[in-house]
Order: sequence, then structure tokens, then C-alpha cells
Amino acid sequence: MRLEEHLKSVDKDIACLINLVAEKAKVIQWGFLSHNFYAGTENIYGEEQLEMDKWADRILFEAFEECGLVKTVASEEQAEIQEIVKAKGTWGITLDPLDGVSCVETNLAVGTIVGMFNEGNVMEKGEKMDAACYVLYGPLTTLVYTAKKGVHEFVMNKDGDFVLRKENIKMPEGNIYGSGGLNKDWTPEHEKYIKDLEKQGYKLRYSGSFAADFHQVLYKGGVFTYPALKEKPNGKLRLLFECNPMSFIAKEAGGDSTNGEQSILSIKPEKLDHRVPIYVGSKGAIKLAEEYMGGKK
Ligand code: F6P
Repeated sequence: MRLEEHLKSVDKDIACLINLVAEKAKVIQWGFLSHNFYAGTENIYGEEQLEMDKWADRILFEAFEECGLVKTVASEEQAEIQEIVKAKGTWGITLDPLDGVSCVETNLAVGTIVGMFNEGNVMEKGEKMDAACYVLYGPLTTLVYTAKKGVHEFVMNKDGDFVLRKENIKMPEGNIYGSGGLNKDWTPEHEKYIKDLEKQGYKLRYSGSFAADFHQVLYKGGVFTYPALKEKPNGKLRLLFECNPMSFIAKEAGGDSTNGEQSILSIKPEKLDHRVPIYVGSKGAIKLAEEYMGGKK
């Protein structure tokens, strides 16, 4: 079944927005051949931008701007929320146009992550989100979406159409883990947690691309974490652009997320670049993370 057909069962606006992401994913996927070099500029977080980041950001932003449904776009590549004055619709979009961009150089999988809020307010808790999706540019280009009616994956075929790969993905308990940060910078609680996972036979899988690392956890179960570090208590990943959409998808697939104390989805963003420590994955591994981070273990 094609993505367009599958989306007939969800809200019309959401269907339109996800189809739009799929359409632009085709363009971005081909762009890896032509735009894969450093632009020499930095984004607001001081990270060097690949030409590709800026290009993907522009392609997606223009598509949201043109479609008429989107009122606000918060993009990881923009310093401020973009208001679309001519919009008729009320949708708010959070966008990480190219997540894991440092992996492009070595040809590892990277992704586009999108969150969708019907009320236009992207500075809301993740639990208020209406839909989320991500595209993974790997050996196959796939799109995973949820509109609160299950989590489904589509794969791009040779004609550039997305066709159903797996419907109603359920995250198993599983036993893989990936943790960001240098071991020497981990907190004692996090270190103990990881030791426990290893003792239980969890296998390390970490590529440095959140979209790709999360995708493995979605299918195989376990946990992805970018924890609080001794010098960086908020970790690295951004609530709006990375943590919220993936935590939303994890929850819809039967998994969970936490910052160590509370669900990622229950955190109200304080600023556009709000960062949070994140544990996202199977319910059991997230419960255990909360026990360790709360000092109960
Ligand atoms: O936030 C961007 C990102 O590239 C994520 O996709 C990834 O999980 C993380 O940073 C990798 O960070 P590090 O290089 O510190 O492991």
C-alpha cells in the first residue's frame, strides 16, 4: 500500500503535511550527491553547517510555507520561530531538517525529524503534539509516521513512491542500547545504569545519528540515551526538534521516554533550544533509568 492511501485514514491536514515531507524527502535524498560539502557557516548552536543542512531546511520550509496549512515553523537551523503570515491553517511544525549531519561525510544514515501541532504553538509540551514523522536516509530511504493511530513505516521504491514496509510497529523489550557523551563525563547514576544494562546482556549500538540510533531501538527494543553530563546537566539533544517527536513516536509504539524524572512529553519548553537529558525506548529500560537516576538503585 502506498503512503497516500494509508494516510486516507488520518486527519486531512496531517495527511497533507506527511505527504509533503515524503515528497521533499525524495529531493533531499538525491541532494546527498550534489550538496555534500561544508558551507563554512555555523548554526545557532555553533555547529558547522553542511551545505546540505541549509539546503534541506530551505526545501522543507518553502514547502510548509507554500502549502497554506502551516502558521509557524521552528527549525533547528533557524534562530527564531518563523511565522507564515499568509497561512490559512493553524499548524505549528518543529523541524530538524538533517539530524546526525556529522555522519553524512562517512555515508552513515541520517534523518529528517518533524513534529506537528494543530494549535500552531510549537512551544507546547510534546504530549500536545498531533502527529510526528521522520525520514531515515540509509541503505533504504524510509518514512515512519504516527498520527496517534499506530506507528507505520514506508520505504521509497525505485519510482520514488513510499510503500508500506511495516504497519503498527510495536517496540519490543529488546536488549540494545546506545549512550551519548564520553564515559568520563557520565554521572555516577548513569554509569551504574549502563553497567546494569551490560550485565543484563544489552548490546552497544551507537552511530552518532539520533534518527538512525532511535530507529534501531524502535525495531529491536532497548534504550537510546543522551544523558546529563557532569558539565552539561541538560545533555545535548534538543527538546523541540529531536526529543519530542521521537518520544511521541516511541509512546505510540508502546515504548516510553524520560529525562530521568518525568516523561519527555510532559516537559514544557522554556526556549527554542531547550535541551534535555533523554532516555527513550522500551518501557522496562525506561523504568529502570528512572530508578537509577532517582537514586532508587
Ligand atoms: O544532535 C545532533 C546529533 O548528531 C544527534 O543526531 C546524535 O545523537 C548526537 O548529536 C551525537 O552526538 P555525539 O557526537 O556527542 O555522540
